[in-house]
Amino acid sequence: MPHPTAQRILDRLDTPVTAITAYDYPSARLCDEAGIGLILVGDSLGMVVAGCEDTTSVTLEQIAYHTTMVRRGVTSAVLVADLPINTYDSPEQAVKSSLVLADAGADAVKLEGGMRQLEKIRAIVAEGIPVCGHLGMLPQRVREEGGYKKKGKTDVEASALKEAAVGLEEAGVFAIVLESVVPDVATEITRSSKIPTIGIGAGSDCDGQIRVLHDVVGGYPWFVPPFAKVYGNVAEVTGNAIKRYTEEVRKRL
Ligand code: KIV
Repeated sequence: MPHPTAQRILDRLDTPVTAITAYDYPSARLCDEAGIGLILVGDSLGMVVAGCEDTTSVTLEQIAYHTTMVRRGVTSAVLVADLPINTYDSPEQAVKSSLVLADAGADAVKLEGGMRQLEKIRAIVAEGIPVCGHLGMLPQRVREEGGYKKKGKTDVEASALKEAAVGLEEAGVFAIVLESVVPDVATEITRSSKIPTIGIGAGSDCDGQIRVLHDVVGGYPWFVPPFAKVYGNVAEVTGNAIKRYTEEVRKRL
């Protein structure tokens, strides 16, 4: 049986879980009105909104600010906010940071990592705040790892991922994001977990999928991850509208 705090969120989520990031009121409202199940105020905002190289400079205050915007646009979806790097280094700090995000309007928080996060997850859940786990490629550790690498390629890595998934479930998370995980390993974790797995670059067998909004709508043309399928052309539409506006101003129309 999932932890009661986790069950509160699971009762609101259909499977397959449909999940996407959003960072402001209009994008959150559009996602919510389109019927998405879960909206994440991801620390990917450091890249696709703030233009930084990776997510490691994102602060708790920034996530809290964006969560307040997203909260105003969301009426149905579960709203999850990312705990940024260095904001959950101890159980006490993890609880304090999670309370800030819950105050900003998050229904749940997400944090990255496996066995070394179990104490922190237990502490946050004990405070009544639901937690989403995140295993596989951990963007907050991209600098230590020297790049974005697929996880679960070796037996050692695959076993560590499976062990971590069991640990996270026992600690009380309501779901686990699997990022850039070898699909067969993601499938095994999915089959053996009672809580949903939500994949990104982890094959199609997960209990749901999550994507970065800008990748889905074609809003960040300068970099598109290899696993991303682009469904829209927001960058092109925006660029064309601005060109037409500019031309009309120049012609004094
Ligand atoms: O920050 C983010 O957008 C994420 C998703 C990629 C899962 O963590």
